[in-house]
Amino acid sequence: MIESPQSESPRVVAITGTRKGIGKALAEHFLAKGHTVFGCSRGDASIANANYQHVCADVADETHIKQFFKTVRQSAGHLDILINNAASASMNHLLLTPRQTFSSLLETNVVGTFLCCREAAKLLKKSKTGGRIVNFSSIAVPMRLEGASAYAASKAAVVNLTEIMSKELAAYDITVNAIGPTPVPSSMSRTVPSDTMKQLIERQTIKRMGHMDDVLHLVDFLVSPKSSFITGQTIYLGGALQ
Ligand SMILES: NC(=O)c1ccc[n+]([C@@H]2O[C@H](COP(=O)([O-])OP(=O)(O)OC[C@H]3O[C@@H](n4cnc5c(N)ncnc54)[C@H](OP(=O)(O)O)[C@@H]3O)[C@@H](O)[C@H]2O)c1
Repeated sequence: MIESPQSESPRVVAITGTRKGIGKALAEHFLAKGHTVFGCSRGDASIANANYQHVCADVADETHIKQFFKTVRQSAGHLDILINNAASASMNHLLLTPRQTFSSLLETNVVGTFLCCREAAKLLKKSKTGGRIVNFSSIAVPMRLEGASAYAASKAAVVNLTEIMSKELAAYDITVNAIGPTPVPSSMSRTVPSDTMKQLIERQTIKRMGHMDDVLHLVDFLVSPKSSFITGQTIYLGGALQ
């Protein structure tokens, strides 16, 4: 039997990077389905909803992330879904990439994902519907996107982390998968020059910009209780790359 969205039982969801962009859309999507959402970002909350709690936290800061998941534990006692959406990007030729930019992308995108998975796993183990982790990679990885070496390398590390953590967490009934979006309208994609964006979309099988709904649908699929036999996978949107 296919469940309608209204018949989903309420779950506890933690999402990083909920102040804007895809993270905010995901938080609003899960709230609209009646779930409880805990969000974090460095800035203040931009969502007002009785079922939403925001913690100001930098995902690369271990103390902040411990505090974030302590808030989840004290309020909800367990966690069903973690979505590691927070990230930063930088489009620069290798010769123009400062060391600090490279380190900072690795800190947010890789160390942040690792810290959140580790802290969340302690609460996901207690989920009655099966724990779900969804990490964010990017088509920049299979595309080997020139001009984005630091970003693509950080997102390649997320794919590898996903594959290894899926093995380490399977015994706790936690699945770990990743999604690799194409460009989707957000402040991050707006930093890509329009010529580069056109060339990038031309290399996708389906030659259009991603919609927020494309991302929400894939996340819904991966976090469904029915997806309990799917783990360690990275699904790229837009099809194979030319
Ligand atoms: N949009 C695209 O075209 C696209 C394509 C492929 C993959 N992606 C991936 O999709 C995800 C979301 O991207 P987006 O386009 O929505 O990005 P965005 O519009 O730049 O939003 C990033 C979000 O993450 C938060 N954030 C950034 N650094 C953080 C940190 N260190 N600690 C905590 N929160 C932090 C930001 O809030 P604060 O500034 O308040 O911290 C913001 O809410 C990312 O993983 C990105 O790599 C996006």
